[in-house]
Amino acid sequence: MTTYTFTLDSLSADHLRGGFFVGWPNPPSPETHLRLLQGSSHVVLAWDDGQVVGFITAISDGVLSAYIPLLEVLPAYQGRGIGGELVRRMLDQLKDFYIVDVVCDPDMQPFYARHGLRPYSAMILRNFARQSGHSTGA
Ligand SMILES: CC(C)(COP(=O)(O)OP(=O)(O)OC[C@H]1O[C@@H](n2cnc3c(N)ncnc32)[C@H](O)[C@@H]1OP(=O)(O)O)[C@@H](O)C(=O)NCCC(=O)NCCS
Repeated sequence: MTTYTFTLDSLSADHLRGGFFVGWPNPPSPETHLRLLQGSSHVVLAWDDGQVVGFITAISDGVLSAYIPLLEVLPAYQGRGIGGELVRRMLDQLKDFYIVDVVCDPDMQPFYARHGLRPYSAMILRNFARQSGHSTGA
């Protein structure tokens, strides 16, 4: 049974070894994954059998705005509603912010539209030399 948590209590890198960041040539390690979860203002984790099988993060200024940079469900767990539930629970945490933004591929827009988001345009920068994470975390 899938359960959901909002805190990182007793979470370790060993809970994150299921194979996240599918398709990333230079993915963050489970230890770096733990660090980015700890650095996020909001997280929701999906658990099954003692392992994290899905996660979503948000980064916020605590006043007006929040940004959702990462959402992923392990391939073996996709198509069961876990991704949608992570989004639903995250948006509930962010319901008092004026701005809540996600950048996504066009084919993902219907998925987010089901949760009330609408298409817009974005500008992005990707530093592929740092795809595995900032060296110091500063
Ligand atoms: C997107 C993702 C989190 C969805 O997780 P999930 O647990 O399968 O989601 P749900 O079961 O709640 O919903 C499945 C729906 O996701 C949508 N979806 C998933 N991947 C999609 C894609 N690449 N393109 C378009 N829609 C997609 C579909 O609408 C699907 O609906 P269907 O079941 O009717 O086909 C998961 O596919 C994933 O981890 N993908 C890789 C990482 C990623 O793309 N993250 C989003 C970054 S913006």
